[in-house]
Amino acid sequence: MSNPLSKTIVIFGASGDLTARKLIPSLYRLDRKNRLPEGVRIVGVSRTKLSHLEFQSRMGAAVKQFAGADWNQEDWDQFAPRLQYCSGDASTSEGLASLEEWFKAHEGAGGARLFYLSVSPDLYGSIVSQLAGAGLTKVPSPELWRRIIIEKPFGHNTLSAQLLNEEIRQFLKEDQIYRIDHYLGKETVQNLLVFRFGNTLFEPLWNANYIDHVQITVAETVKVGSRGDYYDRAGVLRDMFQNHLLQIMAIVAMEAPARYSADMLRNEKVKLLEAITIPDPKEASESIWTGQYEGYLAEKGVRPDSKTPTYSAIRLNVDNWRWRGVPFFLRSGKALSSRTSEVQIQFRCPPHLMFSLPPGEKLECNRLAISIQPNESIHLRFQSKVPDQEKMTIAPSEMEFQYGKSYSGVPIPEAYERLLQDALGGDASLFMRSDEIERSWAIIEPFLNVTESPDAPIPEEYPLGSMGPVGADGFMDKNLREWLPLYGNRPS
Ligand code: BG6
Repeated sequence: MSNPLSKTIVIFGASGDLTARKLIPSLYRLDRKNRLPEGVRIVGVSRTKLSHLEFQSRMGAAVKQFAGADWNQEDWDQFAPRLQYCSGDASTSEGLASLEEWFKAHEGAGGARLFYLSVSPDLYGSIVSQLAGAGLTKVPSPELWRRIIIEKPFGHNTLSAQLLNEEIRQFLKEDQIYRIDHYLGKETVQNLLVFRFGNTLFEPLWNANYIDHVQITVAETVKVGSRGDYYDRAGVLRDMFQNHLLQIMAIVAMEAPARYSADMLRNEKVKLLEAITIPDPKEASESIWTGQYEGYLAEKGVRPDSKTPTYSAIRLNVDNWRWRGVPFFLRSGKALSSRTSEVQIQFRCPPHLMFSLPPGEKLECNRLAISIQPNESIHLRFQSKVPDQEKMTIAPSEMEFQYGKSYSGVPIPEAYERLLQDALGGDASLFMRSDEIERSWAIIEPFLNVTESPDAPIPEEYPLGSMGPVGADGFMDKNLREWLPLYGNRPS
């Protein structure tokens, strides 16, 4: 039935893994929470030939598997008819014919459209150009908007990201493009904004006068699985640093935007990224440590002599007034002992300590840990007096905030729920702008050059289930720091 103000989400790559694991389960959950626009329809597009009903039943099985406790047959039965399917190769003009037919039959006088590119990155440009060629991205009026969500990876280095930006901007305006980094959809990453800018407590201390250094860790237990072929060409620097880790760093270190608006937020992030020093080749090789997990070379799709790192630790410096002289250490790896994403702020020690410590003991200086996942929490470590001791004795104590306790009964939503909802509502705050992406590549590129040059060092092998290569500890010794213990994997 036609509806003059209908809304349609079109997912390209509808038979892929992301659609089944994340996109459809997130849309289903949004529907359960009554957060989808009324009457919205979701059209899956891919080359596989399927009927609407076959697509619905495949997605039903996926939601049953991936939506966990949120699965409910009645809710599904209500949601399923929203799902439609058109087969075709969207990178060719003939491939869009069935989608065009679908729009003609269902949109009537017109509708708003959200296109989601969950396809191989080499198809982004051609799909956008085919959509534009078929007139499907033309904006007839502001309420009949056309927006495109583009998955990562967006380019594989600075130049390819610039070229891709140029290519898609021939057809779309920047405010129609929603480049995704799903870390920005995580509650705790958004809470970093609230923690920093909704409180006065820490902001006066958030600078080089009081902070010694910052550590950002994204540790994973998973290996490359069935993605060996992609991963071996990407490596951990492209897969995790250029996007997720730099985005977290930008939020931790940027100045306060005047308002929570897409432009203001992204302007501040870009300013911060621009203040990160781009190391020269020598500095880059001294500011990185790489590792590869045991058995990586035998993974399917991986070259047998691959030097692709599955673990990296890097040091970045921010050359601005606030952060001058404060190193930022970023690390991430696969096949590690725990799945933990955490930001650690190590404050400076008191300038003078009037208490004597037992011989050989060092004062633990104030530390703030923000655990992004899995046990979403904030921990503040400080010194306190141990009661009733013969002599004055001090010891570290902790204050903590646990999402699970403070908001019990409110499960942390899947990051894609937030992002899909924002894109439908036209809020691009949690999506990346072209300048952000290009600058992030420029920061990571010198490190890629170190790991990909013909005489690149062989990454240090590390055992499965460890905390990475031992050389990463030596890397920190050289930087006169040590990796701080992680909280995220503690039981809540
Ligand atoms: C993706 C990477 O962007 O993020 C994956 O391509 C990685 O390799 C994943 O496993 C981690 O996301 P999350 O949400 O599980 O921390």
